Amino acid sequence: MDSRLVTITAGASGSWRIDSDTAIRGPGLAPAAGLTVMAGDVLADTVVAWSLRGIASHPRYASRAQLDDLARRQPSLGRPTATRAALILIRKSATWWAMGQDERLAALGPASRHAEIGTRYLPAIARRLLHCRDLSAAEPFDFLTWFEFAPEDGPAFDRLCTELRATSEWEHVEREVDIRLRRD
Ligand code: HEM
Repeated sequence: MDSRLVTITAGASGSWRIDSDTAIRGPGLAPAAGLTVMAGDVLADTVVAWSLRGIASHPRYASRAQLDDLARRQPSLGRPTATRAALILIRKSATWWAMGQDERLAALGPASRHAEIGTRYLPAIARRLLHCRDLSAAEPFDFLTWFEFAPEDGPAFDRLCTELRATSEWEHVEREVDIRLRRD
């Protein structure tokens, strides 16, 4: 997938089957059975339950040491053994976006240790972070986060989510939808 812009559509079918769809905070999405991730800004030619766009961007908060650590330990997407995935959609509060960069860095870093917690789950979990906020004022989420893992690493992924949701960073999450997927 070359494009930095990604479209995810959900409908009656797709390359991933939807196992569950949970509104963790705020409203959920229309129910769907399958989901497809496509490069580019793709207009669906069939009826879809919903379609979301996100764009890969540069890191904002990770330090040099964290980036080097991630580069060493982070697996790539598309591993044949990673037949389970999670799409977690997140919108943060207006208060979060009104903060200075130094305050957000402190909230994500020293206060919440997001990267440190996440890195403990490597290399089991492959991840991709897409930003939505700058695409248009109408985007329903700020981030589309995508994770791939083997079935036996599902419980570890659940623990990771529980750990992150208990951090002070998550006090700024005003909408979160957690979609779990599988492929053959
Ligand atoms: C698999 C282990 C994980 C690792 C290693 C990890 C690492 C990171 C890092 C380094 C960043 C900062 C990127 C930057 O510098 O801009 C980040 C951002 C983010 N991660 Fe994670 N993460 C993990 C799991 C998760 C999970 C499970 C979620 C959702 C439940 C999540 C949601 C996010 C979000 C929404 C952001 C953007 C935060 C913002 O810019 O305000 N991450 N992650």
